[in-house]
Order: sequence, then structure tokens, then C-alpha cells
Amino acid sequence: MSTPLNAITALTADEISATVQKLGKWFHNIDLGGVQTAPDHFLGDYPRVKFQGFANAIPQDLTGKTVLDIGCNAGFYSIEMKRRGAARVVGIDSDERYLAQARFAAEVLGAEIEFKNMSVYEVAGLNEKFDVVIFMGVLYHLRHPLLALDLLYENVVKDVLIFQSMQRGSDQVDTLEYDYDFWETDIFNSPGFPVMYFIENRYSNDPTNWWIPNQAGMEAMLRSAGFEITAHPEKEVYITRKGEIKDKQPRAVYPPKQ
Ligand SMILES: C[S@@+](CC[C@H](N)C(=O)[O-])C[C@H]1O[C@@H](n2cnc3c(N)ncnc32)[C@H](O)[C@@H]1O
Repeated sequence: MSTPLNAITALTADEISATVQKLGKWFHNIDLGGVQTAPDHFLGDYPRVKFQGFANAIPQDLTGKTVLDIGCNAGFYSIEMKRRGAARVVGIDSDERYLAQARFAAEVLGAEIEFKNMSVYEVAGLNEKFDVVIFMGVLYHLRHPLLALDLLYENVVKDVLIFQSMQRGSDQVDTLEYDYDFWETDIFNSPGFPVMYFIENRYSNDPTNWWIPNQAGMEAMLRSAGFEITAHPEKEVYITRKGEIKDKQPRAVYPPKQ
């Protein structure tokens, strides 16, 4: 189900175009009344091309649901969730330039979305759990990726987590034993063993790319943080549900519990 948004803007295409330019370089290509915000994106019509790969794996009708979009950028996914009828959508990002773009895009399209400048590490401050949490394209930008997943589990995910990370290395996923002997070392040479690649300097000329998992690594981290993978509709995208933390080991929780 797609709910039409209440586009109420009185701006002309020229005025929209001028503000789009003024707001700096866009990462999200969004159609604002015929004006494309990032028509020359190196990944094509992004993130629409990405969304097409998993749009059918998430509920078409989000009527009455609450949604949190972490690392929302210019709000493409927040707006799409609003189009699906979500009652309340909150988008957070740590970059004010992207938030200004998001606010303008939502205003032009008539989408009522709350955008906040907030880091994923601060989500406890929202004091709210959301039916659907979107965490797309942020994990590999973090120096502490597993901490972020633990914080989401503890503080904001009520039910569904829609997750995406850049992945590199092998797509092979080994079925592992629960435990290995100290002298078993060959297992670490298997391409299907969970791996996170650490980027000390640059990858894709982006100083914020720190950790890139292979597929086995990504799946293992999600499970370890308590998220059950219910669908894998696209190479990098996982639909998950909040489940049990199986090992009962303590997780880092910030801020500390009283
Ligand atoms: C590659 S973009 C992904 C944008 C969008 N989620 C998507 O999938 O198209 C990464 C976004 O994460 C934001 N970001 C990076 N570190 C963050 C952090 N610690 N907390 C919140 N957002 C962060 C960036 O500002 C940027 O908007």
C-alpha cells in the first residue's frame, strides 16, 4: 500500500532546484516534484535502486507503526516509510548538512517526519522503542560497530530491524562448530569464516569507512547482537527480528544502567 503524501509546497521547480543546490552535495537522489537531488550519483538512481531489491520484503502497510531511521541522510527511507502509512517516523543523523536536506525534501513532499541531529551511540536518549528500525549503510562508518548493534537491541528496537552494510570478501558462509580446539587454526583460512576487514587509512576515498564485514561476518554479528535474520532479499540487506541473546554474556550498554 502506498499512501500519497500531502505535498503542499508552493515552490516552483526553479525554486526547488535553487534550494537543492544551496543545500550542498546530496547522497540521496530524491525526486522533488521533478527536480532530482543527486542525478549523477555514482551508484545510479540511489537509493531507489537499492530499495527495489528489498521493498517487497517489508510490510507494504505500516499504518499505526512507529519507525526510526538511523543515519537517515536526506530521508529517502524515512519518506518511503511515511508513504507506507507509518504513524510516526523519526530520522536521526550526525551530519547537519544531510539533516537540512532531509527537512527540505520532507517539506516539499509533504511528509511529516521528525529529524534530529543524533548519533547512533546516543539512541538511549530517545527513550522510545520503535516497531521498525532502519539501520542502512551506517555500520561500516563506525569505529564501534558491535557496540552500535548492542545499543539498538537494548534501547530502540521493539520488533523489526532492517539492516544493510557494505560487504566485501567472500559470500561463502560456513556452518561452524560451537567451539574449536586451541590448536585448530585452519578454520581461520576458510573464506566462509566470519571476518571484519579493518581499514586503517582509506577505502573508496572515505575516511569514515572503518570496518567491512564479509557475508559470514555480517550474519554472525547480527545473530550475536540478538537479531534473527528472517529474510535476506538483497546481497547486503537483512530483515531481522529482535530475538533472544543466546549466550547470556553481558553486552556493553551505554549509558550505564542505574
Ligand atoms: C552511506 S550513508 C547511508 C544513508 C542511508 N541510511 C542509506 O542507506 O542510504 C551513511 C549515513 O550515516 C550517517 N552517519 C555516520 N555516522 C553516524 C553516526 N555515528 N550516527 C548517526 N548517523 C551516522 C552519515 O552522516 C550518513 O548520512
